[in-house]
Amino acid sequence: MIDLHTHILPQVDDGPDDWEDALALLRQGIEDGITGAVSTSHILSDLNTDLEGRLIYRFEQLQKFVERDGLNISLWLASEIHCLARFDTHSRVATVNGDRKFLMIEFPMNEIPDNAGHTLFQLVIDGITPILAHPERNGTIQRNPDRIFSLVQRGVLMQINAGSLTGRFGRHVRDIALEMIEHRQAHFVASDGHSVRNRPMKMGDAYRVVTREFGPEQADRLFRRNPERVVRGESIEIPEPEPIRKRRPVKFSFFQKRMRH
Ligand SMILES: [Fe+2]
Repeated sequence: MIDLHTHILPQVDDGPDDWEDALALLRQGIEDGITGAVSTSHILSDLNTDLEGRLIYRFEQLQKFVERDGLNISLWLASEIHCLARFDTHSRVATVNGDRKFLMIEFPMNEIPDNAGHTLFQLVIDGITPILAHPERNGTIQRNPDRIFSLVQRGVLMQINAGSLTGRFGRHVRDIALEMIEHRQAHFVASDGHSVRNRPMKMGDAYRVVTREFGPEQADRLFRRNPERVVRGESIEIPEPEPIRKRRPVKFSFFQKRMRH
């Protein structure tokens, strides 16, 4: 699996505290079956040259440690840019590998600012594909999941968090994530890993959920094929999304079934 969304650089955001933590997080990912990861530290206000330099320096340091310890994982550099932050798409850390093909963007937790749509569509016009990080966790989207449909129709790709699919953020978030996959409104699953304990770099359990619910082909597309195309800078096949018309029927879990017999 290739993990498109990780916070693996120490002391640049709310990710690892030090190199030891950063390497422990990578080891956790490797153990879980992750073979490659994109470093996407938060850019919350201003992507200036100072911050750009710091991210590149830390990323190169991390690669040296990975090599020193013989860790079997490929790394690429990008960022997770807040939709209200100031940034230049020519920055080497704004897009994946600095190649101006894919840019990861996030909304605030509870709203969609008025100019967010403008920012996203300006990227599309510039030939850069925006990847929206974990839309299923946004409060406004949770109340109106059809907002995702209109963004996908306009060329925004959607990245779901692995933890959303395993119920880490509650049943409602999990249901939205599953609905998105069912209606072809999801393009990637990623860990959004921050720390071994609280926000792990894990995708294996979510991979199994998607395989069980939608089959191995879909799991392969979301966890492997599509992310691989992003890191290679290749375009992605985007299936026509369907609007979410009705709520997904709640399935009885294994335990509920047992209790009824
Ligand atoms: Fe993140």
